[in-house]
Amino acid sequence: MKGIVFTEFLELVENEFGLEIVNRIIDGCELESKGIYSSVGTYSHKEMFKMVGKLSDLKDIPVNDLLEMYGEYFFDVLTKKYPQFLNQPNSFTFLKSIDNYIHPEVLKLYPEAELPSFDFIDEGKNEMTLVYKSSRKMSDFALGLIKGTANYFGEKILVEKMSEKKEGELVLINIKKIG
Ligand code: HEM
Repeated sequence: MKGIVFTEFLELVENEFGLEIVNRIIDGCELESKGIYSSVGTYSHKEMFKMVGKLSDLKDIPVNDLLEMYGEYFFDVLTKKYPQFLNQPNSFTFLKSIDNYIHPEVLKLYPEAELPSFDFIDEGKNEMTLVYKSSRKMSDFALGLIKGTANYFGEKILVEKMSEKKEGELVLINIKKIG
């Protein structure tokens, strides 16, 4: 994963839980990077899971809640860094543009980026199902990014995981607009 995913994670941890917790995570995780991330570097996504796991132990918050919280925060980072991708009328058209436009563009910028793939099933005007596929098993991060998307477009939505296969490599996520 790109360094920005790690630097922003540590930034969020520092803001929410303080520098002491950042240091305890880095000291307690035996990271190959030693917790030194450059935003242009690339690191194993396993380091992210190690750090989130450690934070979960230290703060007694479930890993999936932390990943979701991070996804919502990271969406804000993305909107500031990549405003060119946000030129869409609503959250559903935006979400549908990720797989065929946004992530492919990201890959042109960073050929070493590791991105999930998405399929979409239309369920009518106000509902859709998103099929998340990735060997990194980060659907909880996707849930947070989707919530961030709805906030950005000023919409109220319900996001729910419907089923999980292959230990989280293939996940159906249902999204309903409620206002
Ligand atoms: C402006 C919009 C977006 C941009 C520019 C963007 C870009 C990125 C970047 C740079 C990464 C890190 C890749 C790496 O480090 O190797 C990433 C990962 C990811 N993105 Fe996006 N993204 C956007 C929106 C979204 C949204 C709305 C979702 C959710 C539906 C999403 C789902 C994910 C997931 C789940 C990952 C983690 C990697 C994985 O699961 O395999 N992205 N994205």
